[in-house]
Amino acid sequence: MRVVSVINYKGGVGKTSLTANLAAQLAWQKRNVLLVDLDAQASLTFSFITPDIWEKDFSEAGTIKSWFESFDSGTPLSLASLIDTPKRVQQALRGRGRLDIIYSHLGLINVDLELATKLGGASLAQAKKNFLSIHRRLADGIRHDIDSDQYDLILIDCPPNFNIVTKTAIIASDYMLVPARPDYLSTLGISYLLRSANSLVKDYNDFADLKEGQKADKIAPKVLGVVFTMIQEYGNQPISAQRPFIKQTASIPGISIFSNYIKRNDSLFAGAPQYGVPVVLHGYNSGSHQSVVEGLEAVCEEFGRALGW
Ligand SMILES: Nc1ncnc2c1ncn2[C@@H]1O[C@H](COP(=O)(O)OP(=O)(O)OP(=O)(O)O)[C@@H](O)[C@H]1O
Ligand SMILES: [Mg+2]
Repeated sequence: MRVVSVINYKGGVGKTSLTANLAAQLAWQKRNVLLVDLDAQASLTFSFITPDIWEKDFSEAGTIKSWFESFDSGTPLSLASLIDTPKRVQQALRGRGRLDIIYSHLGLINVDLELATKLGGASLAQAKKNFLSIHRRLADGIRHDIDSDQYDLILIDCPPNFNIVTKTAIIASDYMLVPARPDYLSTLGISYLLRSANSLVKDYNDFADLKEGQKADKIAPKVLGVVFTMIQEYGNQPISAQRPFIKQTASIPGISIFSNYIKRNDSLFAGAPQYGVPVVLHGYNSGSHQSVVEGLEAVCEEFGRALGW
């Protein structure tokens, strides 16, 4: 089982769309995928279930927010108890692979503030202990609560920030997958993300060494690559306005770029979440839809290869 965070500081670059489509396509290829929506905007959540169902069946005690909060009660929930199999995508998968999800909650934003108050401590040793236990929370939850034989992949949809909840995702991950739009601000954020992630990993590993009594495992999440999204094509290649940003990103040390990318298609992506089935499983009714779907399939193939599948 691999754990991959889909992450970029920048908002609106296609993180959630990529997460949903990767999961759906991999499940179509008979993989078993668990999604975790770690964004308080809950966009991934509402890409699979309706707000009505979420409100009725999950909002009260069935989301990742409840899970983070349950640590305060002394009897933490099991992550596994929050897993749902959303029906519409399950039907579309026709019994091939499995796509499960742990939903988010709009109130998850307050969890970040709560966790922040728990950092620090009366002594350096206490502060380090608190740092490790807060930041390891998701990693420990996955390790203890999720049966690694049940899933090939856990994909975590991260929010567009670097708050504590996001950091728990990086620490829980084997890999980070970075979607980016080929524009100045989106690509600017990639170097910043790398620096922030490297410094988090360094702090964590320094602290892990100093944990009293026993050592915590060190972590080394790798960047799987940058996937460009919302590419506009002319003559089967990105338009000239987008090409410099792709080239510039490719020159960032330590970064590899997926050779396949996701094409821009507003009509296809804008409406998809309300049907509960990601674009890649829609089939196509026009040449432009077909080319978007084939692009998504190619990104998924490349993702699988990058994981060594
Ligand atoms: N390939 C695409 N073509 C056209 N529109 C797209 C494409 N991918 C995503 N979109 C649209 O762009 C918007 C942002 O996409 P998405 O929610 O996936 O980004 P995000 O990075 O997860 O955003 P946030 O940072 O807010 O979580 C959505 O309205 C989505 O429908
Ligand atoms: Mg998102």
